[in-house]
Amino acid sequence: MTHVLHRRIAHSYPFAVSGHGITIRDSAGKEYIDASGGAAVSCLGHSHPDVLRAMREQVDKLAYAHTSFFTTQVAEELADDLVAHAPDGIGHVLFVSGGSEAIEAALKLARQYFVESGEPQRRYFIARRQSYHGTTLGALAVGGREWQRREFAPLLIETRHVSPAYEYRGRRVDETPQAYGERLARELDDKITELGADHVIAFVAETVVGASLGAVPAPPGYFQRVREICDRHRILLILDEVMCGMGRTGTLHACEQEEIAPDLMAIAKGLGGGYAPIGALLMQDKIFETVAGGSGAFQHGHTYMGHPLACAAALAVQGVIRRDKLLANVRTQGAYLSRRLNERFGNHPYVGDVRGRGLFQGIELVADRGTKEPFDPGLKLHARVKSEAMARGLMVYPMGGTVDGVRGDHVLLAPPFIVEAPLLDTVVERLGEAIDAATAS
Ligand SMILES: Cc1ncc(COP(=O)(O)O)c(C=O)c1O
Repeated sequence: MTHVLHRRIAHSYPFAVSGHGITIRDSAGKEYIDASGGAAVSCLGHSHPDVLRAMREQVDKLAYAHTSFFTTQVAEELADDLVAHAPDGIGHVLFVSGGSEAIEAALKLARQYFVESGEPQRRYFIARRQSYHGTTLGALAVGGREWQRREFAPLLIETRHVSPAYEYRGRRVDETPQAYGERLARELDDKITELGADHVIAFVAETVVGASLGAVPAPPGYFQRVREICDRHRILLILDEVMCGMGRTGTLHACEQEEIAPDLMAIAKGLGGGYAPIGALLMQDKIFETVAGGSGAFQHGHTYMGHPLACAAALAVQGVIRRDKLLANVRTQGAYLSRRLNERFGNHPYVGDVRGRGLFQGIELVADRGTKEPFDPGLKLHARVKSEAMARGLMVYPMGGTVDGVRGDHVLLAPPFIVEAPLLDTVVERLGEAIDAATAS
């Protein structure tokens, strides 16, 4: 009998006892290939010696010092490192302990920026349906998964949602990808106008949609139009790169491939690679300077922000990625994985779409390829695929609600950046078997 409130209360979880490279071993000695990095977290795999060494050195010196009393060398170095490689205009970083905290901080800092700019009437956030920004109340409010929001709706802050950039289902047959992106951008523009541009704080979006859609990039030109619309209406652009950022799509930041810079950007998962809980909010100078020259403090804080051990882990993870040129491997192996997925599932009767960027790939499961009809949500196909994959020693990240928050299933793959082609062959083979088994019954 467990005293832990597990994610699924009735489910019996194997005990993970050790991890090495791309595998996790359970207490029965069974090994699992970690083809999803947990939830797109373990970008260097498990037990990387350089990261462990850096963490040991830090813990021997200092495990914790509260940020209202001290700064630490390791937090300063990590901030310098992040700023040195950040999109244009980003000069400061707030450290937190995960993705939801980074999003909460983004929402509050955006609001405080406008209050201190003399525009306290701004109160709305605009975000997209089918997005996931975390589970705390602010993050849940901007998130667009209806099944997660519904029961907490009375507690959520004012957010309006527009359509996701979801080409497989959203683009009309008579539309080019560019025209589709333009239509989505106009929808955002119209929503801002409807609410009154001077009442809107920010538009929030995942640069590449992760858990809720399964690695879906936006159509070409979409984010450039979004940037232009936000600028024209003087509202902030908050990018959520908690999952898709820090190298996952083949560039350090996913927005580099969109050739835009956000006003605020949330990062987490791949920042510390799972070695310690850490997230960060990156901010444009204009936001920092407004607060610095106004009240002089962001009205926010957590006990564990800038935790030295977490900063040491993240600094080491980022150092290894750069030293070992792993972003090049993400691009090469990502292209290989995409090709192998297309070969295996391109004509599969129950796979409607294969998509993604870098080592961030998704496949969408459908009952009928022609009509794109999803499976009956009552079947919980995504859960079946997960357990069939686990039975075969494979960790992938399947999810339901892809189509509209209720219907639809997809599988997300996010292997560590150290992965090589032979292992990806095994991943695709086992995934194929798991999907065949899950759809057969
Ligand atoms: C895009 C995105 N934003 C925010 C979060 C929330 O992060 P955390 O679970 O660390 O709070 C997640 C988690 O999956 C995510 O994928």
